[in-house]
Amino acid sequence: MSQPRRVSHWPLYDLRLRTERLELRLPDTALLEEMVDLVGRGIHPEATMPFGVPWTDLPSPQREREAVQHVLRSIAEWTPKSWVYLAVVTRDGRVVGAQDLKGVDFGACRMVRTGSWLGREHQGQGLGQEMRAAVLELAFAHLGALEAQSAAFHDNAASQGVSLRLGYEPNGSWLAPRRGRPDLMLGFRLTREGWLRHRRHQVTVTGVEDCLELFGAGGPVPGQPPE
Ligand SMILES: CC(C)(COP(=O)(O)OP(=O)(O)OC[C@H]1O[C@@H](n2cnc3c(N)ncnc32)[C@H](O)[C@@H]1OP(=O)(O)O)[C@@H](O)C(=O)NCCC(=O)NCCS
Repeated sequence: MSQPRRVSHWPLYDLRLRTERLELRLPDTALLEEMVDLVGRGIHPEATMPFGVPWTDLPSPQREREAVQHVLRSIAEWTPKSWVYLAVVTRDGRVVGAQDLKGVDFGACRMVRTGSWLGREHQGQGLGQEMRAAVLELAFAHLGALEAQSAAFHDNAASQGVSLRLGYEPNGSWLAPRRGRPDLMLGFRLTREGWLRHRRHQVTVTGVEDCLELFGAGGPVPGQPPE
């Protein structure tokens, strides 16, 4: 008699997104340690701050400890209504960065937001595009997303480059805190149609079936919201 398939109690640990060069997954303890080591080697020049929450300015070891807690908190606080899939990104088995995908009341509005970083030595090689394409594939092709949004400070050409290259369109600007001062944030929006037109990366998603309920993605995709 065949054994029933073993389903993990937290099936998100079995979810894998693979691109031409990268693999994305929830980090286990060893990968989380490696990811935090990479943060310590630098993500951006000290003179600039790409993040709205300036977590990279914290002194060591608080920065590393908060980074660990940030990842673990995303799992502890996960609900189908409000979740952040915070994936570690590896290349040839080594950690190169992190990519997140966030859903707020995803079942009702089918919109996701993304955030990401790469270790400095891994930037400028197209990996940022590849890892964003991976979570967009998860969102649009498997979770039934209708829209993705991203935001970057006005001088973050690399993040904006990733968005524009993948088919996002500019979606306004607003003031956001940056190291305690207001600065201009630029918004970008990718529709399902835009994603289909610019979908050029090879992305394979495995283990998603058992996660759909956790993503609040079961059931029919609601119709397009009014423009
Ligand atoms: C943002 C980030 C993830 C982008 O990843 P990346 O691998 O460096 O970017 P890519 O190589 O995929 O480049 C994407 C596009 O932007 C362009 N670009 C990259 N760096 C650029 C720069 N410094 N200036 C101008 N354009 C740039 C690339 O040419 C590419 O466009 P193209 O394919 O048309 O040539 C990465 O640079 C990073 O981690 N930066 C620090 C943290 C950060 O800013 N996170 C995002 C916060 S919003």
